[in-house]
Amino acid sequence: MNNLMKAVQINSFGDRNVLELNNIDIPTPEANEVLIKVKSAAVNPVDWKIREGYLQPMLNHALPLTLGWDVSGEVTAIGEDVSSLKVGDAVYSRPSISKNGSYAEYMTAAADEVAIKPTSLTWQEAAGVPLAALTAWQSLFEMTKLEAGERVLIHAGSGAVGQFAIQLAKSRGAYVYTTTSSKNTSLVQSLGADQAIDYHQEDFSELKDIDVVFDTIGGETQANSWKTLKKGGRLVSICDNPDEAIAKEHGVSAFFCFMQPNREQLDKLSEMANAGQLKVSIDSEFGLDEVAKAHERSESGRAQGKIIINVS
Ligand SMILES: NC(=O)c1ccc[n+]([C@@H]2O[C@H](COP(=O)([O-])OP(=O)(O)OC[C@H]3O[C@@H](n4cnc5c(N)ncnc54)[C@H](OP(=O)(O)O)[C@@H]3O)[C@@H](O)[C@H]2O)c1
Repeated sequence: MNNLMKAVQINSFGDRNVLELNNIDIPTPEANEVLIKVKSAAVNPVDWKIREGYLQPMLNHALPLTLGWDVSGEVTAIGEDVSSLKVGDAVYSRPSISKNGSYAEYMTAAADEVAIKPTSLTWQEAAGVPLAALTAWQSLFEMTKLEAGERVLIHAGSGAVGQFAIQLAKSRGAYVYTTTSSKNTSLVQSLGADQAIDYHQEDFSELKDIDVVFDTIGGETQANSWKTLKKGGRLVSICDNPDEAIAKEHGVSAFFCFMQPNREQLDKLSEMANAGQLKVSIDSEFGLDEVAKAHERSESGRAQGKIIINVS
């Protein structure tokens, strides 16, 4: 058997020119891991932020590093301690970001980070779910504990995280405001948004008495969000750590969410998808030899859903 596979790696940090398509050894799963034959990977902004070296102070990756931390595929081998999965299972995962990723023909992942893929989704759609949907889940349900009947402002409803956030907030029974461009109004409405606010034309900061703000942009967007919250409201950001002193001034609580792998939550997302309650928009698809183009699309900040790498 040929023990080599193709993988898109970096050997130094920098712009898209540091991406290399290499032939490397197929990894062997450790006792708690499975080996996944990758069908599709999804691109997330964190991929190019890691490629640039922006997260190196926090993540301290060793090089070479295979990028990509969203995957769908088939289990082809299991470690000796794994009982939750078997060879042949169709799975999806947001594996640990500290290890080699999914822009490769095979990858290993800890079994407790890997869930059975929703049968209703294609390989491409399934690869687009884990990182973005878990981020929305953990921000809305774990951090801010969004409740039925509450009013939530979700920034960038057309983005990958925003699209899942709208659907999760609606599933919880919340009333959803979302900022978006007018070109994406029908998209966010089709996902359930109650009010779309064109951020080029309208001033979202005039909203009042919002219970929860989900900040997927940071910077000025976060700064202008505080006054929309009612006293006792909650703000969660996935981009800029909110300032505790500002939160106190406004009488609200604030959180930063750095999402974590979670198989149980993936199982719940699978149930929603299989019940037709979770739509996945694909923005664009690329091959393993086109990762630079895929990163260019993500770096543009204009994607309208998931950017997919088709591997096999
Ligand atoms: N902390 C964590 O664990 C975590 C996890 C996931 C993501 N993130 C971060 O969260 C951010 C969003 O991720 P993503 O995957 O959702 O990104 P994405 O899919 O690339 O977001 C692109 C979308 O954002 C919209 N957008 C851009 N600027 C906007 C603005 N000022 N107001 C409203 N919409 C705007 C764009 O629409 P237009 O073309 O209409 O502008 C586009 O549809 C990234 O910075 C990512 O790194 C953090």
